[in-house]
Amino acid sequence: MIKAPSPNIDFNNLSFLPVQTPYSFVSYYKEGKWDEGKITEGTQVSLHMLSTGIQYGQQAFEGMKCYRRRDGGIQFFRPYENAKRFQKSCKRIMMPEIPIEKFIDAICQTVKANSEYVPPYESKATLYVRPFMIGIGSNLILAPSKEYLFGVVTQPVGLFFKSGLTPSNFMVSDYDRAAAKGTGDIKVGGNYAASFYPNYLAKKDGFTDCLYLDPLTHTKIDEGGAANFFAITKDGTFVTPASDSILPSVTKRALIDIAKEFLKIKVIEGDIFVNNLDIYSEAGTCGTAAIITPIGGLMVENVLHTFGNPKEAGPITKELYRLLVGIQFGDILAPDGWVLDVK
Ligand code: PLP
Ligand code: COI
Repeated sequence: MIKAPSPNIDFNNLSFLPVQTPYSFVSYYKEGKWDEGKITEGTQVSLHMLSTGIQYGQQAFEGMKCYRRRDGGIQFFRPYENAKRFQKSCKRIMMPEIPIEKFIDAICQTVKANSEYVPPYESKATLYVRPFMIGIGSNLILAPSKEYLFGVVTQPVGLFFKSGLTPSNFMVSDYDRAAAKGTGDIKVGGNYAASFYPNYLAKKDGFTDCLYLDPLTHTKIDEGGAANFFAITKDGTFVTPASDSILPSVTKRALIDIAKEFLKIKVIEGDIFVNNLDIYSEAGTCGTAAIITPIGGLMVENVLHTFGNPKEAGPITKELYRLLVGIQFGDILAPDGWVLDVK
């Protein structure tokens, strides 16, 4: 079996900045079928410049992490959810779906080849796993490609938002990230390119990131550029937006179950009106990269709205974080089917 030797990396000081891992996975789709795919050295591929992935954004991806347990084992968190979401993304932009088992096999092969790059348990860092698909070949015509590349790339990562579990300020953006009935509910590159400028503006003004409102009425919080949104009411209900233009987050789905099953608190998937934030005492974003990132203050039309104690994450946010991360790293017994051991 292909396996990288131990790297010389300070796993305790990782962010999301590039750290090369030695192996990737590639598989090609031609004449209506996928080849078997294989582990390759490095992260480079050669593409025609008129690939639909380059010219027309025919591209989809997933974001997942591998966690090193205290016993040294390695596990994925709910990878079948990512596999299913990837199929939905591919279908919407007319790329061939990857069979679930091929997706799972590819991510496991890639992690095993790079297993020395899965950070140690104590570091609380992880191996980020990025499956993606792009249309390839020469395609000036505005139509789906006939050929595709499915790849898996990995990178050891630390915190995505450097504020970690300390609340920080976000702002509501004037821009939309995705159209109503557009592509907000799938994970395609164009959504992310659309968020670069609003994200730049938010950071320039000292905010961690921005949140987007629903693109139809601009009255309700939708989500962030890389994470879903949740808030806790003053009487302890977990509320998270129900919207067609947000990405259905695997982490958010897990938090809903944790809130109901572990914390026994009420959960509402509904509307969070931006002019009615006084009913909430905690707020945050959640996602694979973001984990749980508490929001201390949200700037809405030049007024900073604060949630509870803006210096310390609220009690329910802290409990959700403890349980989520505990399950992801294998310290807390996961509900059935939530983790996949990479053996
Ligand atoms: N929303 C957006 C736009 C994202 O990019 C992500 C990250 O994947 C999420 C939400 C969170 O989704 P998940 O928890 O599946 O990572
Ligand atoms: C994720 O949480 O996996 C994301 O996709 C966020 C990002 C780095 C784009």
